[in-house]
Amino acid sequence: MPHLTHLRVDHLENPLALARRSPRFAWRIDASDSEAVAQLVYRIVVSTSKGEPVADTGWVASADSVAVSVPGFEGEPGAEYEWDLSVRVGRDGEDTEEVHSRGSFGIGLDSWDAPWFEPQQEPVVEEGPLSIGPEAFAEAAATAPLAERLHPPRFLRQAFTLGADPVRARLRITSQGVNSPSLNGAPASDGVLAPGYESYQHAISVHTHDVTALLHGGENVLGVVLGDGWYAGRISILGRSAQYGRILRATWSLEVELADGTTTVVIPDDTVRSSRGPIDWSDIFIGERHDARRTVDGWDAPGFDASTWQAGRVLAAGAEEVAVALVPFTGEPIRRVRGLPVAGILSTPAGETVLDFGQVLAGRVRMTVRGEAGTVVRLEHAEVVDADGNFLDNILGVNKDQADEYVLAGDPEGETWEPLFTFHGFRYVKLIGYPGEPRPEDFTAVVIANDLEQTASFASSDARLDRLVENTVWSQRSNFLAVPTDCPQRERAGWTGDLQIFAPTAATLMGVAAFLDRWLANVRIDQKAHDGVVPIIVPLPPAMDDPEPVSDDDLFNIRAAAGWGDAITIAPSALYRHYGDIRFLADNLEAMRAWVDHQTASAAEVLPRRLADADLTDEQRANHALLWNGPLNFGDWLAPSTLEGGEDEFQAMMKAPLLTAELTGPLFQILSLDLLAASASELGENELADACHEHAGKVRAAFAAEYVEADGRIHPDLQGIYVLALAFDAVPADRRQAVVDRLVELIHEAGDHLDTGFVSVPYLLDVLWENGHRDLARTLLHQDTAPSWLYEVDHGATTIWEAWHAVHEDGTVDRVSMNHYAFGCVVDWMMRRVAGIELVEPGYRSTRIAPDLDGRLDRCEAHVDTPYGRLAVEWNRQDDAAWITVTVPVGVTAEVELPESWSADGDLTLRHGVHRLNARRQAALVTA
Ligand code: BGC
Repeated sequence: MPHLTHLRVDHLENPLALARRSPRFAWRIDASDSEAVAQLVYRIVVSTSKGEPVADTGWVASADSVAVSVPGFEGEPGAEYEWDLSVRVGRDGEDTEEVHSRGSFGIGLDSWDAPWFEPQQEPVVEEGPLSIGPEAFAEAAATAPLAERLHPPRFLRQAFTLGADPVRARLRITSQGVNSPSLNGAPASDGVLAPGYESYQHAISVHTHDVTALLHGGENVLGVVLGDGWYAGRISILGRSAQYGRILRATWSLEVELADGTTTVVIPDDTVRSSRGPIDWSDIFIGERHDARRTVDGWDAPGFDASTWQAGRVLAAGAEEVAVALVPFTGEPIRRVRGLPVAGILSTPAGETVLDFGQVLAGRVRMTVRGEAGTVVRLEHAEVVDADGNFLDNILGVNKDQADEYVLAGDPEGETWEPLFTFHGFRYVKLIGYPGEPRPEDFTAVVIANDLEQTASFASSDARLDRLVENTVWSQRSNFLAVPTDCPQRERAGWTGDLQIFAPTAATLMGVAAFLDRWLANVRIDQKAHDGVVPIIVPLPPAMDDPEPVSDDDLFNIRAAAGWGDAITIAPSALYRHYGDIRFLADNLEAMRAWVDHQTASAAEVLPRRLADADLTDEQRANHALLWNGPLNFGDWLAPSTLEGGEDEFQAMMKAPLLTAELTGPLFQILSLDLLAASASELGENELADACHEHAGKVRAAFAAEYVEADGRIHPDLQGIYVLALAFDAVPADRRQAVVDRLVELIHEAGDHLDTGFVSVPYLLDVLWENGHRDLARTLLHQDTAPSWLYEVDHGATTIWEAWHAVHEDGTVDRVSMNHYAFGCVVDWMMRRVAGIELVEPGYRSTRIAPDLDGRLDRCEAHVDTPYGRLAVEWNRQDDAAWITVTVPVGVTAEVELPESWSADGDLTLRHGVHRLNARRQAALVTA
């Protein structure tokens, strides 16, 4: 019997407070795999929480079950609704059956009236470098002791009385700083580090919690702990504090409906009291110190005597200090998503005790300890041990301490502690001052991340490829934390380039629709504040907004960067493809256009520095006026061969930008024009689509004229440039073969190694694959000497590294990030080209199943949870025979496409159900 599952509203299960008033609905049809089920009609009825119908689609003859709208429905801010879904399905094309299900959702508030509460506090000390430069990465210089530089989080308490037990209660809360709310001594949410990180100077999001079960008639107490977080703590490249403000504040609205039908609303007022608690300080970068001797029992429960606690300031909504838009938080909150046990306790050659959790991750340690009151236990975090097996702090920079301290209360039963407002990137923890012999069972690595569903798997006959995928999942989990970050230990910044590179893989591996929708809203906000330029980092920390120039052509002056700013065209396009929700294009079209307009205008204004004094012909001038090749950008960042040589690290890093920026600029300009054209045409904006298409043609012609020589050479003669030129179709047909040949030659000259940097690596294997070099693509995937993906796996990687050689052959370790997802972008390729699940139409509605039966694997099993349901492929190959099983969800059409030399019997167009195919290789057709 078919049934409806996975009811979603704006990609979420029963969300309480959506940002949009007219959300989109989705569902899946689960049916036994032998039935060939299809949806014939659907009907959605939306009713208020009191059961009054407010919108009804009527029966709609359609197979749509993804991003479905209810015409005419616009929810009231603050209201909650139920939706009844009815679907008639056909089985084997004949008998029909009606199935039903029901879900709920709420619309968030679109304005905010509640006051804010500002507890008495010492303002956050302003510190850290003011401008970006090498010093931001230098060894942190010791300044004053931490106790003088950091301040204790504030504990807020508000007692109130309810006349009766509630039937429904919602707590809406947010803060300048991070908050942890409780009611009557119990956590009000399982989230951590709320409200997350956003462009706080423009908008802060409000979390909504269902707290009905936590309240009762009589006296109740709301508790809120308030910490620095991203708002006031040390963040980003600079490790600078107080970027959004120096004073912490919170606002809330607790709406309680009582059984007698009355409603009470609890908001901050002059009954709120605050105090410091046991936390001496808490900073996301530096770490947290907790003095358990200061524990205040019962502070957030009724009956506590708060007479010594302090009153604070109550600020009206909209007061100058809090004049910022408050928007509903829509998406999965940051949670403790899993706990990892200790894999080993090391006694290192240096005589230190180091916990090894066996996995690089983002999170913090929960520890149980027994000892005398006042004993201080210190935990220092790092991702690696060095060649000798000693703890190595691999993170450079100001305020990147990553150290927690716990002062024991002396409870003879033992005491258990986990920091509240910090997290670290680590695998190893140096344990200092732990009383007695540490036992593995006394420590857990608590992984924190936005709680996104994993939506894909990959298992094959090569365990190293499986580990590569798993490492990518771990890097995504560690970096999809508040915003998509480059790494969870050093900069922890929303580098737009890193996300763009990884977007297709991110959307394959996890349900990122709501997470990236939220981030893109921040991108648009920050872009608007910068005249159409998409910043290199979003949220752009204010201290980086106008840093003093360091030097003329310095890395640190880059503002509009090819392959970074293009996140605004690339990410929404990828999300639309994966989730089939056209709002990803509609919401971002203006922003895409503003970015492309910036590229066009900058192209016309700025000549490449190389040509500043050159004697150019009119034609050359006209070409360069079309090409966005003037300003410096990061180029093909970290391309391996550009990093070689004896120069100092910064000079080496600068080589890729200086060599390649002139080319990556116009190449990404072409890509963004193409993506804007495609988006406009999907949205029916044909005039815009045509204009972009035409302009892209001109830029292509100018690029070919200025950069692609008759023999197919492009300078600089680097793999990445050839890859991008081919991938973005910037090479005229008559030179294409020569360009491909040169790329292949370069790869062979490098000993069959990749030499692609950040922005070209996502396209490398596809370019080879599509230009007649499938086997070379396979060679690069399976390559296991550096630089290569499997070199990392062979050298102990449990995440994706920032640099291919982060751990050298001889075991020496570079002090770089071991947890950068960018190079994990290869997983998207593996899913498509190795396992063979390739989405063709948005939402996977039509999919190509193309297993690589000519490749190096004998077996591969993979799935993607598409918006329609699970799409799975399993194939086994033995000599010239292969057996393929394809599971197709209701609503998806899968077209099987085997390599040229293979054939299979039967229908290769598959619809819902499980299909088994026998394939055979015709010896005569085996290609060389
Ligand atoms: C970050 C990157 C980022 C880059 C910009 C690095 O320090 O970690 O991943 O995209 O700077 O070039």
